[in-house]
Amino acid sequence: MDEREAALRQAHGHAVRWLASLSDRPVPARATVDEIVRALGAELPDAPSTPADVVDLMATACEPGLTAFPSGRFYGFVVGGTEPAALAADWLVSAWDQNCVMRAVTPAYTAAEEIAGAWLIDLLGLPPDSAVGFTTGATMANFTCLAAGRDTVLRRAGWSVAHDGLAGGPPVRVITGQDRHMAIDLALRYLGLGRPELVEADAQGRMDPEALRRTLAAPGPVRGAVPVPVPVPTIVVLQAGDIHSGAFDPFPETIRAAREAGAWVHVDGAFGLWAAVSPTHAHLTAGCAQADSWATDAHKTLNVPYDCGLALVRDAAALRSAMGLQGDYLIQHEHGDPIDKVPELSRRGRAFTVWAALRSLGRQGVADLVDRLCRHARAFATGIEAIDGATVLNDVVFTQVCAEFGDDERTDRVLARLLDEGASWISGSTWHGRRVMRISVSNWSTTDGDVSHTLDAIRRASSGPIRS
Ligand SMILES: Cc1ncc(COP(=O)(O)O)c(C=O)c1O
Repeated sequence: MDEREAALRQAHGHAVRWLASLSDRPVPARATVDEIVRALGAELPDAPSTPADVVDLMATACEPGLTAFPSGRFYGFVVGGTEPAALAADWLVSAWDQNCVMRAVTPAYTAAEEIAGAWLIDLLGLPPDSAVGFTTGATMANFTCLAAGRDTVLRRAGWSVAHDGLAGGPPVRVITGQDRHMAIDLALRYLGLGRPELVEADAQGRMDPEALRRTLAAPGPVRGAVPVPVPVPTIVVLQAGDIHSGAFDPFPETIRAAREAGAWVHVDGAFGLWAAVSPTHAHLTAGCAQADSWATDAHKTLNVPYDCGLALVRDAAALRSAMGLQGDYLIQHEHGDPIDKVPELSRRGRAFTVWAALRSLGRQGVADLVDRLCRHARAFATGIEAIDGATVLNDVVFTQVCAEFGDDERTDRVLARLLDEGASWISGSTWHGRRVMRISVSNWSTTDGDVSHTLDAIRRASSGPIRS
């Protein structure tokens, strides 16, 4: 056995033991950063070590500092686990070590990307000729789509960002809902578009279409002294899945209003776009396919390993024009390459894991996955409502549940107790000015047993005298 094989076997053993531990290990990490630094050793040694020893040291030293994100009892943020086929495929992606840039050099990757892209478009009910870029996550997928949108609305106004940059050009209005995810603001900062104009939303976070119409009809903020072209270059950003309530913007009305104003319409559907796959939940995304671009994550609802976001753009030429690049030493294909759809140059083969997850689940399996996550979310809501003093604050339409336990202080203390006990991991948040327990059901492996186990833990955490 050579050194490489010994290291791989060592990693395999540790990975299998880690995965086997998920069913009953505490979900929060048990060690601090300083403790792990000590266990790993901060000094760079002079002498080499065998690869197997290094893997063994890393796994043993880090294990107490790992949070069980892939556990069926992790409900923080919006974090998926890893479908078995996607996880195993990801190991191969590292072993194959393909730099997935050019069709001519990575035919296997390009084939997997084309097939997975076509399957995604079909499953999500999006226009068949849309281009699909595989990014690091939804933040970069939003960035990628919005870059295509920015360049397009400015091109229509006679301005080329690629040629002339942004300075001195017409301003771009970006309009979004007040409850959008902050990844949108970040993407806009990267794109030099500044802060968005915010449109009122209802109690669940859904954009109010009439308020959107009013905003579109009003003059935008004055930025710089450049004359504003007509129609004003405008991007409207909608949302499929609010991180607190799971709510979806009313797409038919909002997209109609945006179209009438000549805007590019983008949808941030980091986890919610997947509702389209389930006949039971597809009504939530109805009309959303009329937009120009969509961002989502495969590492959330589809449960592939990090990192994998998806940028989908109706006008493939617009995406290529925003992201494509030419290099004398590259071997580029006239019909485009994977490199033309994403911000990075060198990158790993993310589409292999998406292909593996979709091939393993099949159409029915993806729909069942979405339905199962939603069913668990509803079970959480029912269970929490039955707890004395607890209230579910949102309409549970998808995978998100927000609850409070009387007042802010009490809600925080219930959360702290829950994390201390460690049976499950749920994050707190502030929603519309109130502290909430925010449950996101995103893991393929969550079972009915995990849900009732967690509800028992919430009951324990909220019972008895709670103030310190
Ligand atoms: C609606 C929404 N948009 C964007 C993001 C950012 O996704 P990522 O962390 O993959 O960049 C998230 C993350 O939870 C999200 O929920």
